[in-house]
Amino acid sequence: MPDLLMELGKDSYSIIIEKGALERITEHLFLSRKVLVVTDKGVPSEYSKKIVSKCAHPFLVKLDSGEQNKCPKKYLYLLKKMTENGFDRHDCVVAVGGGVIGDLAGFAAATYMRGIDFYNVPTTLLSQVDSSVGGKTAIDFGGYKNIVGSFYQPKKVIIDPEVLKTLDKRQFACGMAEIIKMFASYDKDSFDKLYSNKKMPIEELIERALKVKIDVVSKDEKESGLRKVLNFGHTVGHALECISAETPSMLLHGECVAVGMLCMSGKDAKKQIKKLLERYNLPTTFECSKKDLKNALAHDKKSKTGEISVVKVENIGKFEFKNKTHDEIINDCKGVLKLL
Ligand SMILES: NC(=O)c1ccc[n+]([C@@H]2O[C@H](COP(=O)([O-])OP(=O)(O)OC[C@H]3O[C@@H](n4cnc5c(N)ncnc54)[C@H](O)[C@@H]3O)[C@@H](O)[C@H]2O)c1
Ligand SMILES: [Zn+2]
Repeated sequence: MPDLLMELGKDSYSIIIEKGALERITEHLFLSRKVLVVTDKGVPSEYSKKIVSKCAHPFLVKLDSGEQNKCPKKYLYLLKKMTENGFDRHDCVVAVGGGVIGDLAGFAAATYMRGIDFYNVPTTLLSQVDSSVGGKTAIDFGGYKNIVGSFYQPKKVIIDPEVLKTLDKRQFACGMAEIIKMFASYDKDSFDKLYSNKKMPIEELIERALKVKIDVVSKDEKESGLRKVLNFGHTVGHALECISAETPSMLLHGECVAVGMLCMSGKDAKKQIKKLLERYNLPTTFECSKKDLKNALAHDKKSKTGEISVVKVENIGKFEFKNKTHDEIINDCKGVLKLL
């Protein structure tokens, strides 16, 4: 498969989708220097080992897994590792993991000496189709997700679909939710192909999703307009994520986005999206109180003067941005959420 190219002038980079790419990592990455390889304990260690074994001067950092590690403490720990080991502008950082590791290691690379080379080797489906590409790096702070960060593009992204074999079904489905998000809002042809159950190899699925992401980001890198389309399902999704985090049956990000998309889609689109979500065992409803939902929406950092810009999909492949009050959003959720 030919490499994909994220065209961003001097910050352009290629994205390689290739089964077995990890085995041939030196064909893709320049590793004859100091390399900080960042991974987490949930990522099978064979993946980071493959990279470490090819580096001239590797420094491996294995963090605990989970969103709570995308924090200032772990960010400072990565900086400390680099200063202690004399990293300079010519050295690099490699993330081997999901979106948590990619966002955190990317932010460390973006800020160390005002930016050193960063390579992303995403290992979850969500990170392969979404978070590894586009240059958003961040950590969570003060109860807000991704509140401290920067736009910093990787030098290259290496996607080896083989690593998905060890990913559990629930995490895989979360990646599917983001793929469905991109197809439903921006790419009717791919949506129809997936919907009609035509067997799509995983590489093709990843490639089609990345083409959407590349098209959107290359037109609006800093999210001043169009890039907001990638937030389809995310306003309500984030609110549900906050609410469910307080319960024993906590939902994952992609699962919340799945329900969030249904809340923001028109009648026909909703029917089709729901069918696809069900195919991947993603949730299509959620029970919560109106009060909790309202509070969670008010916590949204994109909420200005009580209104939030949301993405609506009335028909598959077509989107609109709409400014809505919290009450209007809650109204759109009726019929999807069980509001108490
Ligand atoms: N930067 C962006 O544009 C962007 C976009 C979307 C999401 N994000 C961020 O991404 C994060 C979520 O990413 P995620 O869903 O990848 O979660 P994650 O990084 O927490 O990974 C999920 C779990 O899968 C495990 N894992 C990773 N690869 C594996 C593999 N190949 N086999 C077995 N287990 C594996 C991890 O150890 C972890 O426990 C969030 O912090 C979110 O804010 C960023
Ligand atoms: Zn998302």
